[in-house]
Order: sequence, then structure tokens, then C-alpha cells
Amino acid sequence: MNVQQLRNILPVTNDTIYMNTGWAGPTPQTVIKRISETLEQEACLGPTSNNWLEVARDIRDEAISLVARELNASTDEITLTHSTREGLNAIIFGMSWTNSDEILICDLEHPALTTPASVLNERYGVNVNSVAIGATDTPSEIVQKVTSAITNKTKLVALSHIQYTCGLVMPIKEIAEESHKMNVPVLVDGAQTLGQIKLDMKDLDCDYYAAPGQKWLMGPVATGVLYVRKDHKQITEPIFSSNKIYSRNYPELPLSRLAMTSNNPALIAGFAESLKLTDSIGISTIEKRTLNLANVLRRNTSTSNKVNLLSTDSPESACGLVTIGLDNLAPDKLVEILQNEFTVVARTVKGPDGVRFSTHYFNTEEEVEKLSAILENLANR
Ligand SMILES: Cc1ncc(COP(=O)(O)O)c(C=O)c1O
Repeated sequence: MNVQQLRNILPVTNDTIYMNTGWAGPTPQTVIKRISETLEQEACLGPTSNNWLEVARDIRDEAISLVARELNASTDEITLTHSTREGLNAIIFGMSWTNSDEILICDLEHPALTTPASVLNERYGVNVNSVAIGATDTPSEIVQKVTSAITNKTKLVALSHIQYTCGLVMPIKEIAEESHKMNVPVLVDGAQTLGQIKLDMKDLDCDYYAAPGQKWLMGPVATGVLYVRKDHKQITEPIFSSNKIYSRNYPELPLSRLAMTSNNPALIAGFAESLKLTDSIGISTIEKRTLNLANVLRRNTSTSNKVNLLSTDSPESACGLVTIGLDNLAPDKLVEILQNEFTVVARTVKGPDGVRFSTHYFNTEEEVEKLSAILENLANR
């Protein structure tokens, strides 16, 4: 599917420069169609009929096998969730913690990780070791900072693969390698990666990976995935139990016991459809174009005195998230003006404080150039 074909099924692109996929991607009409057809089918067959239950199982299996392929994982290492946060919480609170334990995070993390870490501290006295990472740190600096912060108390390293504030791509593979030497498992927040960059769980070799459907995949809200590496499958404990499959006496423990509640088959069908769409473009094609568009934005800031790039421009750590600040406008004011006067959708972030733009495959170079000109004009107002 080429860019124009994708834009044709994303009505928002008709009159809006949509650059907030890092929060939620626009839903393609093919995904909406699949969701509504599935709801119709459920209503026609009857939600408890054998025929429907079989369809619902097929939809779940389809989504699991598509996402397993996207992650280069086995289907038995995947369970469907409702969000990134659900997967992260399932792992963090499935572990048992005491006041002699530490969790290692970093100071750029999203509340999806900082909040559970704070709760661990309040509830169990766990020490939260938050490593200070700069938005422009190099991969070797990051590996050094993280691994030197691991102590014999560290029970879990929990980090984003791409930092949401500034788009810094973290060297997760190297961090996992070093952490494993110290027998510490690694949980990864993949909220900004699935659908943006090529993922390979076998190569990354982290222990757990949580990701959503609604961002770069452009799937429905309330869909997501949790990857649990094979060797943790039987021993990872669920947060809560509501069914016999949660019992250790159950002969084969399926990973689905880690998900909070059952999923809505129509949304799972939409999730599957978004994975097929990503596949029809090709994740490497998406990754390349996303980065190229972001690089145009980065490059344009370098010719300006008043438009400040707050993200890294190093090729090994950059992606399709670019954070920018203007000297004369606070980030929230800039977001408001962009939306109200220019129908550009973006968001504020803190640390670094600025406005974050997401350039997805469906965005165009013309949109990026137009945005750059708007920013330059606003900076000189
Ligand atoms: C890095 C990061 N983690 C977690 C989340 C939350 O994702 P979800 O709504 O899928 O739980 C976000 C959302 O912006 C994010 O950027």
C-alpha cells in the first residue's frame, strides 16, 4: 500500500496535519470496517453460540499469529492485553517484592512505568533506582549508566525501547545482555515501537515486552500485546486469579492467564486488521519513511536560530518522534496555536519540555515543510 492509498483511508489527513501518532494513530477505514462487521457477525450468530465462539477463537488466533510474526516471537510467547500499561503492570505486580529489592528505571520514563515503580515503593518499600538519562545521550553512555546502576538488590530493569518525551531509541539489546550477566530480567515498554520500527524479540532477548495497538499500528484503543520469553512462561505469576487456568495445578499454564480480563473480539479483529495493514506496507518501509520525514524536520530546525531541536539527531538513536521548543512560546501555548490556527495536531511533553511531533508513514514531506515554515514564523512573531 503506498502513501496516497493509505491517506485515502485516513479521512483526518484531508484537512489536518496529524502528527500525534505517538499518542494515538488515526484509525484506517479498513480497520473500522472490520470492527463493525465483526460486531454484526456476533450479533447475528449470538454471542454464546458455538458458531460465534469458534469465530472469536479464530480471530484471537489470527491476531496472536500476526503479532508474533511482527515481533519475531512464537505464538505461545504472546498474550493479548488491552494496553501497554496492562502488560507492564501484569509483570511488575505479578512479581513478589520486599523492602530489600530495587527496581531500575530511568528518569525519561512514561507514567506507565514511573507510577507502578512509585506504588512498589509505597506499598512494599522497594527502592526505585531512577537513572538520569539525557535526551541526546549516546547508546554507549546509556548502557554504561544503566548497567553501572544495577546492584545485587535489583530485581527488575524496566525501560522504554523508545522514550516518549524525546524519541530517544534505547540500546535495549545491549542493556539486556549486561543485565542478564547479573541475572536481572528486563521488562520493556514498547509503546512507541510496535508499528514504527522493526522488532525482533529473539535478537533483542529481553524477558518481557509490552506494546499497544492504538499508536503506530493505528489499531483500536484497548488493544495490546504482552510478550513473555518462553523460559518465563510457566513461572510468571498473574496479578489476580479468576479462573481455573490461574491455578498452578492446571496442567499447562497458558499466557492468557496474565491478561486482566477477556478481550472484545471485534477490537481484536481491528487489531489484526491493523497488523495486516502494517504488513502490507512493510515495517522496514514504514521505519525508513518515518525516520526520513523526522529527519527533514530535524534538519529544518538546524537552519533556524529560534526553533530548537530537543531530540537527538544521531542516526543510531533517532526515530519518528521529534521534540521541539520555541524561545518565545510555552509548549502548551504552541500546541494550542498549532491546532486552532493551522490544524496541526501534536502534544506537549516534559523533560525535555517541548512539543512532540510524530511523523508516520502516512505523513508527507509537504506537511513537514509546511510545519517547519509555521514554526519558523511563530518563532519570529
Ligand atoms: C512510552 C509509553 N509507555 C506507555 C504508554 C501508555 O500506553 P497505553 O495507553 O497503551 O497503556 C505511552 C503512551 O503514550 C507511552 O508513550
